[in-house]
Amino acid sequence: MPNKLLEVKNLVKIFHLGGRFFGSKLKAVNNVSFDIEAGKPEILTFAGETGSGKTTVARMILGLEEPTSGKVIYKGRDVTHIKKRQELMKHMKEVQPIFQNPFETFNPLKKVDSYLFEMTDNYHLAKTNEEKLKVIEEPLNSVGLTLKEIKGRYPNELSGGQLQRASVARALITRPSLLIADEPVSMVDASLRMSIVNLFAELKNKFNVSVLYITHDLATAYYISDRIAIMLRGDVVEFGDIEKVMLSPLHPYTKILIESVPQPDPEGTWKEDIKLSALEVKEFSRLGCKFYERCPFAMEVCKNIEPPNVFEDGREVKCHLYSKEIKNYKKVKKFVE
Ligand SMILES: Nc1ncnc2c1ncn2[C@@H]1O[C@H](COP(=O)(O)OP(=O)(O)OP(=O)(O)O)[C@@H](O)[C@H]1O
Ligand code: SF4
Ligand SMILES: [Mg+2]
Repeated sequence: MPNKLLEVKNLVKIFHLGGRFFGSKLKAVNNVSFDIEAGKPEILTFAGETGSGKTTVARMILGLEEPTSGKVIYKGRDVTHIKKRQELMKHMKEVQPIFQNPFETFNPLKKVDSYLFEMTDNYHLAKTNEEKLKVIEEPLNSVGLTLKEIKGRYPNELSGGQLQRASVARALITRPSLLIADEPVSMVDASLRMSIVNLFAELKNKFNVSVLYITHDLATAYYISDRIAIMLRGDVVEFGDIEKVMLSPLHPYTKILIESVPQPDPEGTWKEDIKLSALEVKEFSRLGCKFYERCPFAMEVCKNIEPPNVFEDGREVKCHLYSKEIKNYKKVKKFVE
């Protein structure tokens, strides 16, 4: 049994742009690396402003987007370039997505329970009807629903909260080891959000499942996560224990993000074409720090030289402020003054 559930190694995704940026390339994900341990389920949050590359990372892990370079290793198996449908099915049995809008996950003309039965059939999870009911009922009960409650009902006959719970139950049917939840509650009524987010924390232990939780909502992230990755224009700029990052952020961008606590973007979806601003394209293509234009601590070195990944106070931070050279320079400067 490999000791890593997931290994993401130097993942890069370059998109070729169209429209008014035709001919330009955009590095939506730049050298992202992280691991999730096997047998130690955790909730790992990816946060960052819109267009920072969170969904692209998720789609590459799910096998829905092919990386330009880098690797995705799942339970010791290289799943970077899944081509065949059969391989994708096998991968998605283990790594299940939960989408943002439950009303898009379920076809309005199809009964909700039929999705659960289909999952059971497609993955040959039960031989008898009795077994099938058991396979379905357990995840449903775990999200606070029963088969009786949803049987024969169409999506519009359930509330948004119930429907998102049903989509979590559906994702659990194959007993995956990793759930990838991309803004799972941003379309759900605000009063119900916390109860659904709490579910992930409960399921982590009950189903031994890790969750990659993508969100703009740092408050819910703080509440349920074990670790957090802060993304900015394709870079992971700070990564570590949730308490450390949220209570004593080091990267100037993390500090601003935590101070401003941005609201979820209800317009964002998995596949939509996000309209790029000129600043975004400029920031994405900058050789140096992507936060240079906006950083209150920007130095000359930040302009053209990519910041190193530094281990500082128990987390990884990508910023020149923490590089050995700058720290030494500051020490010498202080001494001379
Ligand atoms: N298929 C695509 N073609 C071209 N550019 C893309 C494509 N998909 C994403 N991008 C660009 O890649 C960047 C990262 O997009 P991504 O959707 O991963 O960001 P995100 O962090 O999930 O944003 P949000 O919080 O709004 O969902 C964005 O600038 C986006 O415009
Ligand atoms: S590398 Fe420089 S510009 Fe970037 S966040 Fe750090 S100090 Fe600011
Ligand atoms: Mg997204």
